[in-house]
This record gives sequence, C-alpha cells and structure tokens, in this order.
Amino acid sequence: MKYIEHGKGGTPDCMHIADTAKPVPGEGEILIEVAYAGVNRPDVLQRSGKYPPPPGASPILGLEVSGRVAAIGANVSEYKVGDLVTALTPGGGYAEFCTVPAAQVLPIPAGVDLATAACLPENWFTVWANLTQHGHLVAGERILIHGGSSGIGLTAVQLANHLKAETIVTVGSDEKAEFCKKFGATHAINYRDTDFVTEVGKLTNGGGVDVVLDMVGAPYFNKNLSLLKRDGRLVIVAFLEGSKDEFDLMPIMLKRLVVTGSTMRPRTIAEKQVLRDDLRREIWPAIESGKIQTHIHARFGLAQASKAHLLMESSKHIGKIVLEVNPM
Ligand SMILES: NC(=O)c1ccc[n+]([C@@H]2O[C@H](COP(=O)([O-])OP(=O)(O)OC[C@H]3O[C@@H](n4cnc5c(N)ncnc54)[C@H](OP(=O)(O)O)[C@@H]3O)[C@@H](O)[C@H]2O)c1
Repeated sequence: MKYIEHGKGGTPDCMHIADTAKPVPGEGEILIEVAYAGVNRPDVLQRSGKYPPPPGASPILGLEVSGRVAAIGANVSEYKVGDLVTALTPGGGYAEFCTVPAAQVLPIPAGVDLATAACLPENWFTVWANLTQHGHLVAGERILIHGGSSGIGLTAVQLANHLKAETIVTVGSDEKAEFCKKFGATHAINYRDTDFVTEVGKLTNGGGVDVVLDMVGAPYFNKNLSLLKRDGRLVIVAFLEGSKDEFDLMPIMLKRLVVTGSTMRPRTIAEKQVLRDDLRREIWPAIESGKIQTHIHARFGLAQASKAHLLMESSKHIGKIVLEVNPM
C-alpha cells in the first residue's frame, strides 16, 4: 500500500509517498481502506520529532480516518466487511489501509460525507473528554476557549452550545473572530489587538468564566486563573507557547480552582471505548440532525501531505484540513 513516510522527521518536506506492506488486523481490530484522513496539530508535532508515537502504535502519521471496512480480526462482531466507518486510530491514518481497534470505530453519521466524517474523531474524542470528564461543563455555565478557530476550538464551541453553555473564544484575526461567531461562539476576541483578560472582564461584568480550555500554556496560566470564577476549572490540552514559567498558585486556593488536562493518544482502548460510546449516544444524533457542524478549510491529495502541514503550521486555516487518500 501507499503511505506517507516521514523518515526521522523534520520540516514538512521530509514527507513523501512510499510503499509498505498492508497491515493485518489483529484480535479485536478492523482493517479500514482509507478514503480520507484528518490532519491534526499532533501530526505536525510527531512529524517534527516532538511527539513520538506511544509504544506499539504505528509509526505512520494520522490519528483519524474514514473509509470502508476491508477486513476484520478475530472477535469483532460490531462491524462487517464493506461497512463505511470513521475511526480514532492509534496512528497510521496517512495510508491506504489502517488497522484500528473496533472499540474506536464509529458509523458514518447519516447525511455526513466521508471527508467530513474523517474530521470528527480526534477533535470529538478530545473535546468531549476534556469538557465533560475533566472540565465538568454544564448548562448555564460560561467557557473561555483559546485557539477558538482551531479544529479543537470549533469543536469545543459546538459542544458548549450543545450543552447550553455560553462561549467566549480567543483567535488571531478579525476574520477568525467573525467566523467563530457565525459558527456559534457567543463572543470572539482577537488576542492580537485586544487584551483578552480585560475584554473577558468587560463581557462578563467582572464575573469571569466557569471553565477555560487552553492550548497556549505557560504565558496564559496566570491570566486564565485570574478569569476563573470560584470553583472554576482550567483544562489544558496543549502548550503551543511552552509549559514552564513563574506561576502564582494563590488563586487556586482562594477560589478553589481545579487545574487539569489530558492527552488522548496514550489512553487505553477501554477508555477510548467509553468516549466512543458517549459520542455515539450524545453527539452523533446531533450531527445527524444538523445541530452540530464541522468546517473543512482545505483538502489535499495524500501526496500533498507536506502542503497540508505547511498550511497547518501557518495557522491561516480555520477548522479542519483533510487528506484525500482514496476518495469514495
Ligand atoms: N491533549 C490532547 O489530547 C490533544 C488532542 C488534539 C489536539 N491537541 C492540541 O490542541 C491544539 C489544537 O489542535 P488542532 O489540531 O485543532 O490544531 P490547529 O487547527 O492547527 O489549531 C491551532 C490553533 O492555535 C492557534 N495558535 C497557534 N500557535 C499559537 C500560539 N503560539 N499562541 C496562540 N495561539 C496559537 C492558531 O490560531 P490563531 O490564529 O488563533 O493563533 C491555530 O489555528 C494543538 O495544540 C494540539 O496539539 C491536544
């Protein structure tokens, strides 16, 4: 099969098409003939050598795919050959075939095309886990979402709306701010020309927010704590600007704050299955009814994976970038 080889890693031009043996599904696994593969920031980190795959995972890039079930391993009863599916992969998505634990596979939501379906798993597993299990976001609360126009950010906006929470996002341009508001954010702040701490203070009459979803890290830590209400939760999913600095921990004690965060990839299959089942029950129907949206910014052929990564690194995109592997 064809796949994207990235050798020892480096800049986007280290990626090129190569041939390798088609993987064979083991017990509890499904082999998917890949139609589309979603591109995610963790792929960029892995390609550049900063995020090695966990032990046992495919060294090939790609955390989510859609496509057709091509074969099934032992003890798989949920799916059969020929089914169209989408899946959170353990890696290996930038390829014509990919093996995935059946517990991480979902049906294509009715009415959703395969390209869009490939963009669902990584963002939805991550955002669902972090906002519900760790952030405990509930109806009537207010959430500040940094990186609001990212794949993760727009998914967080959709989930917060679904949960009937109010959203404030920070983004790097006026165009992104407008887009996020049209996509359901209650307020959007361009952090490049507006101090988001002052602006969130104004928007909330000094009340602050219940939850912050952060991907910027150290430079935002004290600012995020300052904006949280009593019993607020700071949920950290990345450190785009680093993880180390000087911090004032006092607000955590005084306001009974919770500082938490998580990564998706190292979770066990059983943990991912719980998330998969939650999404199928709570989110797939809302996607099918059109209440929850996904936005694809750009599509590239598999051989153009380097262009897809260059675009992601430029941060000029809004929402998702997808690779057309063998469009169906
Ligand atoms: N913990 C987990 O399990 C998990 C899972 C998936 C993804 N993630 C992380 O979540 C983040 C979003 O992922 P994604 O795939 O949705 O990526 P993405 O679409 O590329 O979004 C990243 C966004 O962050 C903003 N950004 C980039 N550099 C920044 C900086 N230095 N300071 C402030 N904002 C910056 C950019 O928008 P602006 O123009 O607004 O700056 C960019 O669009 C990534 O950091 C990724 O590693 C974590």
